[in-house]
Amino acid sequence: MSSLLHAATQVRERAYAPYSRFKVGAAIRSASGTIHVGCNVENAAYPQGTCAEGGAISAMIAAGETEIAEILVIADCPSPVPPCGGCRQKIAEFAGSDVQVTMCTTSGKSMSMSVADLLPGSFDASFMDIN
Ligand code: THU
Repeated sequence: MSSLLHAATQVRERAYAPYSRFKVGAAIRSASGTIHVGCNVENAAYPQGTCAEGGAISAMIAAGETEIAEILVIADCPSPVPPCGGCRQKIAEFAGSDVQVTMCTTSGKSMSMSVADLLPGSFDASFMDIN
C-alpha cells in the first residue's frame, strides 16, 4: 500500500460525519515530500462542514508547505469518489495542472485524473489585477 493510501485510510477513520455517515480521508504529498492529511468534519449547521481535501490543504499550509505534488482521496462508495467542485478549486490553488488526483474506494478501486481534467478552464489569480 502506498504511503498516501495508508495515510488517507487512517485519517478517514477519524472523520466526523454523523449527519451524512459518509467518511472521507485525504492525504497530500507536498513538493518537498512531506505528507499531510485531513478528514471531513461535519456540523449541526450543515453548511459549516468541511471536506477532507480542505482539511489536508489546511494542514499542509499550517506545516509551511505550499505545493501539492500528489493528492489521494478515499471513501466507502461503489466507485472512486470525485472531489466536490469547491475542493477542485482549492486543490488547483496549490497544485500544477498535471498533478494527479487519485480517488479510491475502501474496497480497492481507484482512478486517477489530473487537476486540469478535474477543473478545466479554472479561475485563478491571473484573472485579477492584484499587483
Ligand atoms: N466530502 C468530502 O469530504 N470530500 C469530497 O470530495 C466529497 C464530499 C464530504 C462532505 C460531507 O461531509 C460528506 O462528504 C457528504 O457530502
